Amino acid sequence: MKSTSLTVLLALALRTCASGACLESFDYIIIGAGTSGLVVANRLSENLSVTVAVIEPGTDQRNNSNVTSTEFGKGLDTPIDWNYASIRQPNAGNRTFAMHAGKAWGGTSTINGMTYIRGNVAEFDAWEKLGNPGWNWKSIFPYFKRSEKYTAPTKSQQAAGATYESRYHGFTGPLHVGYIPALKNGSFAPVVIKTWERLSIPHNPDLNSGSVRGFGMGPQTLDSELDIRYDSARAYLHPAEHRPNLKMFKGTGKRITWARGKSGDGGLVALGVEVINDGGEATLLRVEKEVVLSAGALRTPLVLEASGVGNSNILKSLGIETRINLPGVGENLVEQPSHFLMYSGDLPSAASAYHAYVTAADLFGANLSAVEEVTRASIPTWARAAADASGPGSLDVHAIEKVLQIQHDLLFKYNATAAEILVVIAPGNILASNYWALFPFSRGSVHLGLRSKLDEPVVDPRIFLADFDASTMVAAARVVEKFWSSEPMKTQASVTGPVVSGDFDLPGNATDAQWHAYLRNTGKQPPPFPATHPP
Ligand SMILES: Cc1cc2nc3c(=O)[nH]c(=O)nc-3n(C[C@H](O)[C@H](O)[C@H](O)COP(=O)(O)OP(=O)(O)OC[C@H]3O[C@@H](n4cnc5c(N)ncnc54)[C@H](O)[C@@H]3O)c2cc1C
Ligand SMILES: *[C@@H]1O[C@H](CO)[C@@H](O)[C@H](O)[C@H]1NC(C)=O
Ligand SMILES: *[C@@H]1O[C@H](CO)[C@@H](O)[C@H](O)[C@H]1NC(C)=O
Ligand SMILES: *[C@@H]1O[C@H](CO)[C@@H](O)[C@H](O)[C@H]1NC(C)=O
Ligand SMILES: *[C@@H]1O[C@H](CO)[C@@H](O)[C@H](O)[C@H]1NC(C)=O
Ligand SMILES: *[C@@H]1O[C@H](CO)[C@@H](O)[C@H](O)[C@H]1NC(C)=O
Ligand SMILES: *[C@@H]1O[C@H](CO)[C@@H](O)[C@H](O)[C@H]1NC(C)=O
Ligand SMILES: *[C@@H]1O[C@H](CO)[C@@H](O)[C@H](O)[C@H]1NC(C)=O
Ligand SMILES: *[C@@H]1O[C@H](CO)[C@@H](O)[C@H](O)[C@H]1NC(C)=O
Repeated sequence: MKSTSLTVLLALALRTCASGACLESFDYIIIGAGTSGLVVANRLSENLSVTVAVIEPGTDQRNNSNVTSTEFGKGLDTPIDWNYASIRQPNAGNRTFAMHAGKAWGGTSTINGMTYIRGNVAEFDAWEKLGNPGWNWKSIFPYFKRSEKYTAPTKSQQAAGATYESRYHGFTGPLHVGYIPALKNGSFAPVVIKTWERLSIPHNPDLNSGSVRGFGMGPQTLDSELDIRYDSARAYLHPAEHRPNLKMFKGTGKRITWARGKSGDGGLVALGVEVINDGGEATLLRVEKEVVLSAGALRTPLVLEASGVGNSNILKSLGIETRINLPGVGENLVEQPSHFLMYSGDLPSAASAYHAYVTAADLFGANLSAVEEVTRASIPTWARAAADASGPGSLDVHAIEKVLQIQHDLLFKYNATAAEILVVIAPGNILASNYWALFPFSRGSVHLGLRSKLDEPVVDPRIFLADFDASTMVAAARVVEKFWSSEPMKTQASVTGPVVSGDFDLPGNATDAQWHAYLRNTGKQPPPFPATHPP
């Protein structure tokens, strides 16, 4: 969003000065000091003749042990988790789902699982196919390396499965990547390796190569010597916070204010950002160059809508004047359904978490071509469901179909990995597998519910609207079941069987119908079990 003309700025400055307070002005205003916003804040403010403001309702959490800990889950459901709730999900037992998101300098990187694994080459190349020339794996790969400071696993960590190839890593970037110190005993690794190999899932020597299929132990965004999380504040803000041209503002970015550009097509240009402080008072910050919106997937659309950019029917119902009718705002929300199974067993003390990434071919076996066909044939129905939900005529159904078709190609033509399965072995006889569908076809939405409720997105992920998503989860669950009941795992860990959610009956060798009912009615985020860390 380009700067407006000087006359408009002067007029506004004069007006505001007349009413008591002069406007503070910045070249760039970044809305959201999260995972991505702080990267941009750091890089822009490298140039000391450029001024940068960052607006964030969360605060500095560098001393919060729930953040610094490398144990996953500690920050969930604490004051640094927005913890939004979805609306009721009719295809998932009418339940509501917790939508975790970080509220802190560092955003969701202060509460996430820290897993540092890149996607498949074809996924990045698909960005280019969607109409973004130059955005592909080959052009992005050097930046992955540039941002990374990789600490290679020790010999014993390698024995535990943490293998790597140097050419896929950077060693001098700001983001520390490595393995927890507690990972030091590889005595159980051969059992995991042999079991996966028996199921025809090969060992992947480096999960960050862009070829993701297989299993391995991925690195995490942490300092492996100090054993602390490397959230984006630690990596990108702390080294830059002394800069005189970078300023943090505590508050919520409510909306962008606009002026008509004098040049070109006379389109809108951003004049500034209205910030709401904790007391509910509004201040206007003026912008000279650009506003960067990085409020996260669930909040960025809300800022746009409050600024008059979105589906004009939705804006009208909110009492907001439409500045740009852009019906895609808040649409195409994708939530990966997740589930977990726990097993009872008995195993010697060892702490490790292995990732397995499987393709549609791995999941559906002999049924692959049937699944491929049914899925392709369903694309128009799913696209129509997404389009209709946002009001008739608002969305271009063919554009949604195109995105779903590209995803279909990823899954069935380019062998992109379709599910992720975590194998967690932790002290206290914890044997568990958490698993996700990586490419659900259900498309949801997130919108502002009321003009004043900036902190309460109306989130509708439409979980399991597409049967494919549930079938993927069932197939992944069966892989999990097979893993824990296969040798040598079964005997070595004395696995006796799954421990299913108390009030739900899932018989052994359950049928498709039983599995579908089970997943739709019990699927949820796992409890924060000690994923990779002994208690
Ligand atoms: C539980 C969980 C586990 C995850 N595990 C992993 C993992 O292991 N590996 C991985 O790669 N990814 C993981 N992810 C995903 C990853 O963390 C996110 O994709 C990523 O952090 C999103 O970054 P972001 O910059 O888009 O948003 P965020 O990091 O969420 O930043 C948005 C920021 O904007 C602020 N904000 C919101 N509204 C406003 C407003 N109106 N004005 C100003 N500021 C605002 C928020 O407070 C927040 O600080 C996980 C996510 C979750 C929820
Ligand atoms: C720094 O910013 C100034 C002002 O925008 C610009 O003129 C200059 O080219 C920038 N320097 C670099 C190295 O980008
Ligand atoms: C964090 O702790 C250090 C050391 O005790 C202290 O100097 C610093 O002020 C604290 N910072 C914050 C933001 O709490
Ligand atoms: C950290 O998490 C614990 C347990 O959920 C909670 O009781 C505590 O208040 C949290 N600490 C902070 C600083 O939020
Ligand atoms: C979900 O709620 C709707 C509307 O209240 C109801 O018709 C439907 O039967 C419910 N479904 C389940 C699985 O409870
Ligand atoms: C590693 O763990 C095994 C149990 O899995 C245990 O028998 C062995 O003593 C441990 N080795 C070290 C070096 O701690
Ligand atoms: C193939 O489909 C049939 C019928 O739905 C099902 O019983 C079987 O388990 C499927 N096989 C695989 C490998 O998914
Ligand atoms: C995808 O995998 C199949 C085997 O399952 C193979 O025949 C095909 O060549 C692969 N395609 C690509 C693009 O890697
Ligand atoms: C599942 O079926 C297999 C044979 O296909 C059998 O060996 C096993 O005992 C069954 N498991 C349960 C829990 O019924």
